[in-house]
Amino acid sequence: MIILPGPASLDLANNIMLELDARLVPVFYKKFPDGESSIRIDGNVNDEKVVIVQTTSPPQDERLMQLFLMASAAKDQGAKKIVAAIPYFAYSRQDKVFLPGEAFSAKIAVDILKACGVTQIITVNAHNPVTLNNFSIPIRDVSAISLLATHFRDQSFEDSVSLSVGKKGLAVAKEAATILKGPFDYIPTHRDRHTGEVSIESKPLKVDGKVTILFDDIISSGGTMIKAVFHAKKQGAKKVYVACVHPLLINNAKERIMQSGASGIVGTDTVPSSISDVSVAPAIAKALTE
Ligand code: R5P
Repeated sequence: MIILPGPASLDLANNIMLELDARLVPVFYKKFPDGESSIRIDGNVNDEKVVIVQTTSPPQDERLMQLFLMASAAKDQGAKKIVAAIPYFAYSRQDKVFLPGEAFSAKIAVDILKACGVTQIITVNAHNPVTLNNFSIPIRDVSAISLLATHFRDQSFEDSVSLSVGKKGLAVAKEAATILKGPFDYIPTHRDRHTGEVSIESKPLKVDGKVTILFDDIISSGGTMIKAVFHAKKQGAKKVYVACVHPLLINNAKERIMQSGASGIVGTDTVPSSISDVSVAPAIAKALTE
């Protein structure tokens, strides 16, 4: 197995390689003055299973393009199988057509990857795992929630309340609670399909006097999480910690979440950031050996 480190995920690719004892073949990357990307695989991948590790957090279009180029180059060089390990999969939130006339962005990205020779995708905590069977190539979704929960458990956070932000994340809260050994629940959210605005729906939570950890797949602008922190605090939570898999952290989201009353915030290295204290390398490496 050969690991091709995409320019957006050099450290993670290296950590996955170490977990697997696989061979890493460097990829040279450059950007032309007009902004176009160029890549060159610096080694032989003929007849090999190739794993390209490339996250597609912002600038997502550029990073997707780099991924297409790497896959296509590996295919042209005779790779036997091409797995795209895409820790954060851009456009995955548009996993269906919500309003008439919208493009089905996630499907388009997957179809292009298939055309570039990708035979399988591995991603981490896809926005809505239920939709993953609807695509033209197999997508394996691995969860980083246990790794995040273990991070808290190792700091003596056992017995804390695990809450998902949004009902569809309840399975995430349950997964965390198996490690933290405390109760779990969800904070209901509603997204206005036209404005994109998220509101929190009122729901009594058993958090009074408790340390509470809020889990979400993505923190982008931080707006949703800020409202969730307020909601948990208003219901008497003693301390509120925040965990997310994909810390996009647009517009100082970390600072604004901390100012909203959170006592701490942690994310993973699917998106390298100042809070990426948990590595998903073991989870991706495990998926690659199964
Ligand atoms: C929504 O369904 C996701 O799970 C996140 O809650 C959302 O993407 C977070 O976005 P933002 O940080 O911009 O509120």
